[in-house]
Amino acid sequence: MIILGIDTSCDDTSVALLRDDCILANIVSSQDDIHREWGGVVPNLARHAHETNFERVYQTALRRAHVALQDIDALAVTLGPGLAISLEVGLKKAKQLAEELSIPLYAINHMEGHLLSSLARTSTGRGTKLSDLSLPFLGLLVSGGHTEVILANALGSYEVLGQTVDDALGEAFDKVARMLGLGYPGGAALAKLAQQGNPSAYTLPIPMRGSGDMNVSYSGLKTATRNLIYEITDTHPDELTKQQIVDIAATFQQAALKTILLKMEKALIAHPVKDVVLGGGVAANLELRKQLRSLAQRYGAKLHVPRQKKLASDNGAMIALAAYWRIQHGFPPSSLNELDRQPQLNIAGA
Ligand code: KG4
Ligand code: ZN
Repeated sequence: MIILGIDTSCDDTSVALLRDDCILANIVSSQDDIHREWGGVVPNLARHAHETNFERVYQTALRRAHVALQDIDALAVTLGPGLAISLEVGLKKAKQLAEELSIPLYAINHMEGHLLSSLARTSTGRGTKLSDLSLPFLGLLVSGGHTEVILANALGSYEVLGQTVDDALGEAFDKVARMLGLGYPGGAALAKLAQQGNPSAYTLPIPMRGSGDMNVSYSGLKTATRNLIYEITDTHPDELTKQQIVDIAATFQQAALKTILLKMEKALIAHPVKDVVLGGGVAANLELRKQLRSLAQRYGAKLHVPRQKKLASDNGAMIALAAYWRIQHGFPPSSLNELDRQPQLNIAGA
């Protein structure tokens, strides 16, 4: 079965083609260059770029996958959560295609896509399948907009065990990266510098470590890091030395990861599972992968991570993948008339 998946939930325009759960093409057009000068995603510019880029991304995906329009069996598109005016672009294109080709359309929760992203197999069938996982399984979703600890009881049946009460993990990385002059989005650059630094050089708090639940907070850690920078430089943050920058990066990263890993440990104790999946842009963080893998192993669970960076951040393949498994489990397609974007969609209602 050939499925075409579309994601325009935020600032990346993506179209992918899958044969069952195997990726034939996964084209992502990043808008980082457009939003960089504003230091964050500007919704109007994002919508405009989706509209400008969609056709090129779509045609490239068909060409790379060697798929003709009449070969496509089903369509998948992100319904939410995300930016309303960005979601609208993908949804409109998907509806048009569904009508043109007379094939079913599956509206997908973007977070379910992230949750399943480590289960996208290569075009030659290498990788783990959803049906290889034991139920229930745990998921950690970490991106620029979300930080969620999920218990997956079955496909489409999810509980949010914990989430951020303020900033997302990726957002915290980006904000601290900005304080250190690392550009936008600076999460990956900060993580790279952290590899050279000493994580015990300074002391930063682990907010909400004793909160008793599985929620996290990153806003206090961000403020504490800003205060630390001002303290070290005597209120002249531009005067940080290279050594101080790498040590702050390492100390921040360690505190930020510990914050969420303590809650993942709580989740593993409360729900002894065999499998843990990691998704979202921050899943590219090597230190997070390493520490989460060893935590999961300590509790007898195996960690599954997205096989490419592109699969961790926003992409159409994870949306098509969610549709594939929904089709296999007998979920009905969406009704085109009633379909409208849902910017606040919760994975618990997926
Ligand atoms: O999922 P994503 O591409 O977009 C959404 O936010 O939906 O995630 C992007 C986020 C950004 O905040 C980016 O800085 C962060 O993921 N990120 C990282 C790393 N690579 C990307 N954060 C920490 N370490 C990384 N290696
Ligand atoms: Zn996302």
